[in-house]
Amino acid sequence: MKVARSIAEFADLRSSLDGGRIVHVPTMGALHDGHKSLIRLAHSLGDQVVVSIFVNPLQFGPDEDYARYPRPVGDDLETCLRLGVDLVLVPTVSDLYPAGRQVMVSAGAMGSVLEGESRPGHFDGVLTVVLKLFNIIRPDVAIFGQKDAQQLACVTRMVTDLNLAVEVVGAPTVREPDGLALSSRNIFLSPSHRPLALSLSAALFQAVGQDSVPAARQAAYAVLERVESDPAFELQYATVVNPATFAEVGEGYDGPASFVVAAKVGSTRLVDNAALTFAPVAAVETV
Ligand code: PAJ
Repeated sequence: MKVARSIAEFADLRSSLDGGRIVHVPTMGALHDGHKSLIRLAHSLGDQVVVSIFVNPLQFGPDEDYARYPRPVGDDLETCLRLGVDLVLVPTVSDLYPAGRQVMVSAGAMGSVLEGESRPGHFDGVLTVVLKLFNIIRPDVAIFGQKDAQQLACVTRMVTDLNLAVEVVGAPTVREPDGLALSSRNIFLSPSHRPLALSLSAALFQAVGQDSVPAARQAAYAVLERVESDPAFELQYATVVNPATFAEVGEGYDGPASFVVAAKVGSTRLVDNAALTFAPVAAVETV
């Protein structure tokens, strides 16, 4: 496995790859089983797997957890080695963002709702770093988790709107046996916070299989109501959206949808979602 600590080093090492389809798995490190599943999927989709590890300051708000975000780089490199990764890019902040930069990518309307409303500028920061990484790595395929569904939708839209020559693939969410979606931030959850965190996935599991938008909302809210009075739990949103645009859907909506939920548990912000499909309501025949 080769490790590039700078963009220049990466350029040298990339030219020494054996060729074939390059699959990129962008990460911020602190690799867990969710990231590992993306890397395994990457092997099945191409010939060379490139993982980037970069905690991107541009996507964190001023009051967010950039400083305390875990950075176990040694462990992460060992994980990549064990998973047969070909090349890892671990750039520094000053290499990726030299002083004087100005131009950024705007995620547009779909980047300013839900996660984007709770975290202003977040998706502009995500898309800017993802585009830079695509330009440096020049992958054929890039893999993103469905766990961060709005991020996946924004990246997919950027690729379409900016005519990028990369195929974006979404990978299923990996969960703990109790349902909690794996996240690098779960280490900040105290044992007393865990049941509160679990209410997110429990609410989603209740929504899945409901046959209408109002029924899905009601089933999820019934679970969330049980924890909402806890002072350590702050629900930020729980709603049904069109998974391609992230616009909220109306009550009579039919077609593919995503139930998205976000909450602050203690000082940790968690997001989760589940895919739903609502069938059209059959017309009632009157005689
Ligand atoms: P990070 O949070 O490290 O996540 C890297 C990738 O792993 C993302 O595509 C994310 O959706 C996926 N992922 C996280 N938890 C997962 C889980 N439980 N199951 C499956 N996949 C999971 O997302 C980012 O980094 C950054 O925003 C990044 C895209 C790297 C840009 O900075």
